[in-house]
Amino acid sequence: MAGLKITTLKKSFGRNTILQNISFEVSDGEFCILLGPSGCGKTTILRIIAGLDQCDKGEIFIGDREVSNLTPKERDVAMVFQNYALYPHMNVYENMAFSLKIKKLSKTKIDKKVRKAAKLLDIEDLLDRKPRELSGGQRQRVAIGRAIVRNPRIFLFDEPLSNLDARLRSTMRVELARLHQKLGTTMVYVTHDQVEAMTLGDKIVLLDKGVIQQIGPPQKLYKSPSNLFVATFIGGPQINLIEGVLDADKNKFLFRAGSLIIDLSSRSGLKKYLGLKVTIGIRPESLMPADGPFLGSLEVVEHIGSETILYVKTVNGRIIAKASPIFQRKTGDKISLALRTPDVHLFYKGIRI
Ligand SMILES: Nc1ncnc2c1ncn2[C@@H]1O[C@H](COP(=O)(O)OP(=O)(O)OP(=O)(O)O)[C@@H](O)[C@H]1O
Ligand SMILES: [Mg+2]
Repeated sequence: MAGLKITTLKKSFGRNTILQNISFEVSDGEFCILLGPSGCGKTTILRIIAGLDQCDKGEIFIGDREVSNLTPKERDVAMVFQNYALYPHMNVYENMAFSLKIKKLSKTKIDKKVRKAAKLLDIEDLLDRKPRELSGGQRQRVAIGRAIVRNPRIFLFDEPLSNLDARLRSTMRVELARLHQKLGTTMVYVTHDQVEAMTLGDKIVLLDKGVIQQIGPPQKLYKSPSNLFVATFIGGPQINLIEGVLDADKNKFLFRAGSLIIDLSSRSGLKKYLGLKVTIGIRPESLMPADGPFLGSLEVVEHIGSETILYVKTVNGRIIAKASPIFQRKTGDKISLALRTPDVHLFYKGIRI
């Protein structure tokens, strides 16, 4: 087991810069998520950590040792790929035993390790089956099992759940969290699914176009997004964004966007933004149906069981709010929304203020 440290990593393919100045640390035993939209460079970072790709600049440390120039084998990490990459002609047992055979471990030792991993993953009954005789979720477990038997210092997962249906994905998510608790091994886990990131990660590294946008625990990214990209990427339904101007009335700070006025007096440090264009961000759960500054009509009402999602047409654009599961009103009805709490997010030129 070991922590991981990456400093000022840079990578280009031809003339395209793919990763710029990537630095982050994962402490020993931490579950770190690399999150970001398709093409932002997540897999490339994972491949560079594993030693399957070279970076142009930067260093990688595993534990205290710099591994930048070591071969994949010498790095002692195990990568679980999105497509599992199981050997089709081998059964589950042989798939899991393969890397240990190559290492020339004794049959008894191999057997012990494979059975222990199989037990942990609840696939003991499947050891004789070929990959084609398994469901997607079972194949996924075998791929993880193959990584576990190697007892690596770090696990690297590349979107391991993306081939599974929604239900299996949420079951496997819980399984992975449980596995991490049991093994306690450092994990770096790539996903573009913010729900997976929020539920699994001790820490999220959020990327866009090869640049780190924010690093922190999931709740930190949710509660204090450092810029508009983070604010919109994390959280579903998406945060409401409204552009307006910061204004003052007597000793009150006000946000104005047309007829919409929101009192920001509880906020400090706003003086230098007076008269400037700012964006406010309000999460749907911070808005509720009640007398308040947002007036509009109901466009869509989604009853999703535990709550109701309201899509409201206003002069400031569509606003999304949350209501209780017993919300009664229908599409077309007039509605007003109030802030549940005074906590709105404020951005100037896209950056949190
Ligand atoms: N071998 C390569 N040659 C040239 N460009 C590449 C190569 N591998 C990746 N890229 C480019 O680098 C960028 C980052 O790719 P990467 O696979 O790391 O993205 P990703 O974040 O994993 O995306 P996804 O979520 O779709 O898997 C993409 O624009 C991709 O087209
Ligand atoms: Mg990828």
